[in-house]
Amino acid sequence: MIILKSAREIENIRRGGEIVGKILMELRNYVKPGISTLELDQLAEKLTGQFQVKPAFRGYKGYKHCLCTSINDEVVHGIPSPKRFLKEGDIIGLDFGVIYEGYCSDAAITVGIGKISDEAQRLIRVTEEALWQGIAEMRPKNRLFDISHAVQKHVEQNGFSVVRQFVGHGIGQSLHEDPAIPNYGDPRTGIELKAGMVFAIEPMVNAGGAEVRILNDGWTAVTIDGGLSAHFEHTIAISEEGHSVLTGASPR
Ligand code: MF3
Ligand code: CO
Repeated sequence: MIILKSAREIENIRRGGEIVGKILMELRNYVKPGISTLELDQLAEKLTGQFQVKPAFRGYKGYKHCLCTSINDEVVHGIPSPKRFLKEGDIIGLDFGVIYEGYCSDAAITVGIGKISDEAQRLIRVTEEALWQGIAEMRPKNRLFDISHAVQKHVEQNGFSVVRQFVGHGIGQSLHEDPAIPNYGDPRTGIELKAGMVFAIEPMVNAGGAEVRILNDGWTAVTIDGGLSAHFEHTIAISEEGHSVLTGASPR
């Protein structure tokens, strides 16, 4: 069941979402060779305290951290570790959400550490572009898989592949609500979009094949072929006029 949100509820998601955007911007300044992924998580936790919001991921299905940190062939849900250090040439996905006045917001960016390969740069650019192509389809009377199709088309036109095992989602008082939003699909199919729907759109894009597997830690998703993967995410409300992005600026 898709829960429609009132203007007041959307305002709460926007307030939290602006904080998510600010915290991701700040984390980005610390993405440098030598920092550990646990240090990034601790910084995210400190910032949630300063902004007086709660981290949305801690405790979710037993997840123990505030942030997901996914390096290179890690697709999503990489676990922060004191032993994992960033190095020049890596790319890292930072996925983060907060709860403000009981409402969740969720966003992700992928950034390079120092000088990265041309392929890595192109993968990051195409993944963020695909997110915006999907967002551009969000308006009343369009259909759910118009979003999915726009993402898939942009990714595949650029020779990359979309991950199937993970999807975007509705969001509100719960981090994950209906509907599931795949990053592939047929245009003009799926439920009709309505003002008041709030979605987290999150393309996960692999440089090689689409297949992923989960490591023994029970969380980290990695590409089967060891190729690079990138992830961008925003929380967006559908309005009468079209849509409104609630998670602030998306730094690259
Ligand atoms: N943004 C991610 C998602 O929507 C992270 C949630 S998983 C968590 O799937 F356990 F880390 F919270
Ligand atoms: Co999400």
